[in-house]
Amino acid sequence: MNVDAPSTWRAVCRDEGLPTERGVAALLAEGQVAIVRMSDGTLYCVGHRDPFGGANVIARGLVGSTTIDGVRVPTVASPMYKQVFDLRDGSCLSEPGVTLGSWEVRSRDGNIEVGRCVAEPTGCRDE
Ligand code: FES
Repeated sequence: MNVDAPSTWRAVCRDEGLPTERGVAALLAEGQVAIVRMSDGTLYCVGHRDPFGGANVIARGLVGSTTIDGVRVPTVASPMYKQVFDLRDGSCLSEPGVTLGSWEVRSRDGNIEVGRCVAEPTGCRDE
């Protein structure tokens, strides 16, 4: 996938079908993603594939938050080996350089839409 490609929004599910603080998996042309809506309504979209375990499980992870340098960081913990990832950019909090990748996501016309990949997953299947 070319990250410099023009933004392409793709409807992946109905907005009303997306729960709060529980991930939903969606299939894009370039792979699977996990979409999370926080209790304040903020949407995040990260890679669904656990870069440590290699399985598509992140949407089933535990959503929460942690505080880093006084800033509240939204997180998802992998259900496999429990690594915790920053939902804002997909980066692993315990293993620098490892990331789920992240995508643009928005709610539009009753649909959840995913846009372009803004951070590449490490260990991406295209590589
Ligand atoms: S998702 Fe962009 S290179 Fe694979």
